Amino acid sequence: MAEPCIEVKNLEKYFTVGKGKLHAVDGVSFKIEKGKTMGVVGESGCGKSTLGRTIIHQHEPTGGQIFFNGKDVTKVKGRALRDLREHMQIVFQDPYSSLNPRYTVEATIREPLLLSHRYSKGELADEVTRLMQLCGIDERLRLAYPHELDGGRRQRVGIARALALHPDFVVCDEPVSALDVSIQAQVLNLLMDLQEQENLTYMFVTHDLSVVRHISHDICVMYLGQLVETSPSKELFERPMHPYTKALLSAIPTTDIHAPYQRIQLKGEITSPINPKPGCRFAARCPYAVDRCREPQELHEMSPNHFVACCRVEELN
Ligand SMILES: Nc1ncnc2c1ncn2[C@@H]1O[C@H](COP(=O)(O)OP(=O)(O)OP(=O)(O)O)[C@@H](O)[C@H]1O
Ligand code: SF4
Ligand SMILES: [Mg+2]
Repeated sequence: MAEPCIEVKNLEKYFTVGKGKLHAVDGVSFKIEKGKTMGVVGESGCGKSTLGRTIIHQHEPTGGQIFFNGKDVTKVKGRALRDLREHMQIVFQDPYSSLNPRYTVEATIREPLLLSHRYSKGELADEVTRLMQLCGIDERLRLAYPHELDGGRRQRVGIARALALHPDFVVCDEPVSALDVSIQAQVLNLLMDLQEQENLTYMFVTHDLSVVRHISHDICVMYLGQLVETSPSKELFERPMHPYTKALLSAIPTTDIHAPYQRIQLKGEITSPINPKPGCRFAARCPYAVDRCREPQELHEMSPNHFVACCRVEELN
């Protein structure tokens, strides 16, 4: 594997809720190679956004380590943290709520440039022009306000702003989920073109598996704060192995009448993420659960780079 841009080892982020600890991210390890995209999928509340925000230092991790370009940055503070944050950016699901309604397109994109104190007034205007062109934003929208733009253009502004300071790593947190289907493909194509041009590394969070398939080189499947399966993207769709991944994939509508996924309906209560028991967190909904599923489940490599955390994986596949 080429040098990873991002590596996390045993990353944990717990929130204190009343007297308990909510295990939003619980012992997650993976690497993302430079210039590649890691898709992160799983149901609402499984910890996808918390994972992304912890990696880019918007949350302080409870435990574990974060490496950026080979350097341990888990505990950086002060000036080093400010520098690091420039290299790690986030694009949000809903650009309408993440953009300041009182800022024009120009002011929105200019803000991070201004705060970096690296550009003269003339350079600032040129940089804004460059970023608008890079992200396909028409020059005549320079003085428009967010409410005057459609969702796709607003998201282009959010992307331009995120790329202003030449980051290496971008967390894309459901960046097309709020957009019309017709616009989704345009924004996804833009993100893929930008990845190539700017050599960006992405963590792409989504609950929409058809989107993640299109854009990701590798995929992590999360369930209640933990990775249950991780694999190169193509392999995951061809040979999902964890019972949860199979259920997730079975929910994708397919037009292939020769290979329809059998839809698997999950029954049973979702386990609480507050002070969870040590065993498999999927057990309450898993049709194959047996006594030994109460033991902690670790990821095992089933084929090259394809890891699964399920003690019954061999007999079930
Ligand atoms: N600031 C916080 N304080 C307490 N609990 C939090 C906080 N942020 C997230 N959580 C909890 O952590 C868990 C993971 O939340 P997170 O937002 O990361 O999930 P998600 O996978 O991004 O979900 P969605 O698909 O709905 O965006 C949830 O149980 C959530 O309620
Ligand atoms: S460990 Fe047990 S409960 Fe968990 S997914 Fe595997 S079979 Fe199901
Ligand atoms: Mg989220």
